[in-house]
Amino acid sequence: MGPTLITTLIMMTTPVEEKASAQELTVEPPPLLELRDVTKSFSNRIHILGPIRLTVEEGEFVVIIGPSGSGKSTLLRVITGLTDATSGEVIYKGKRQWGVNHKAALVFQSFALFPWLTVMENVALGLEAQGFSKPERYARARRYIDLVGLDGYERAYPRELSGGMKQRVGLARALTVEPELLCMDEPFSALDALTASNLREQVLDIWLSKQIVTKAIILVTHSVEEAVLMGDRALVLASKPGRILADRPIALPRPRRLKSPQFEEQVDQLYSLIV
Ligand SMILES: Nc1ncnc2c1ncn2[C@@H]1O[C@H](COP(=O)(O)OP(=O)(O)OP(=O)(O)O)[C@@H](O)[C@H]1O
Ligand SMILES: [Mg+2]
Repeated sequence: MGPTLITTLIMMTTPVEEKASAQELTVEPPPLLELRDVTKSFSNRIHILGPIRLTVEEGEFVVIIGPSGSGKSTLLRVITGLTDATSGEVIYKGKRQWGVNHKAALVFQSFALFPWLTVMENVALGLEAQGFSKPERYARARRYIDLVGLDGYERAYPRELSGGMKQRVGLARALTVEPELLCMDEPFSALDALTASNLREQVLDIWLSKQIVTKAIILVTHSVEEAVLMGDRALVLASKPGRILADRPIALPRPRRLKSPQFEEQVDQLYSLIV
């Protein structure tokens, strides 16, 4: 007697299943972000940046540090698609990225708020292009306004806010689009020391406690101490043209204590790469 229907099915399906599970074990997901020999030149043909080769994996908090004019802001603009690379490829989750990456958001040093819009309107603005209804936009915006500690200021205008509060609006606006990749361009450098310190701690807390869907953060800073406080990995940029001089892990346990011997050692190491 030949095999029954069931044994035939088992015979037919088993090798396929084995193959599938073997594939699951071996196929790695693509990195979140990959830059393949990216360069940037402006219309005056001055070569500003690159070639840059960089991979950012999910879960990473990457800090970029480098002298003024080394192309840090330009690099973030290329990564988020606000400006095109002149050559090379920006690959996002395995796919070539063309134009603005709607899975990424950028927080600016200068806050870049619209003065004629309220906090709520500024924060909800990023969702307009994505086709959300007004109630949906406002509900989402309210969630992130609360998360950054601006509850009660929804109707205020930027001119009524301190610098720290304005940057909280900038942060809430970026978070409201629920970006997988959050880029921040010197977000604390326009703030006084105490306000900057509080906001740094709050950003770290939001990131480490996984209150957001964001999978990776890229932070540009001028401050070595800020880099060591926040990052898992530091990229040091050199200028003319901007390129990656060093790519180092910051392997300190969290929470990190400023001025602890290990902290100071990391700061010294990073300084030595810059100067
Ligand atoms: N739109 C533009 N057109 C022409 N040149 C530009 C443009 N944007 C930036 N640059 C030039 O590119 C270089 C890098 O600028 P970028 O703003 O990226 O540097 P940065 O590292 O962010 O500097 P900073 O630390 O001062 O913010 C600078 O020499 C700048 O003058
Ligand atoms: Mg800059």
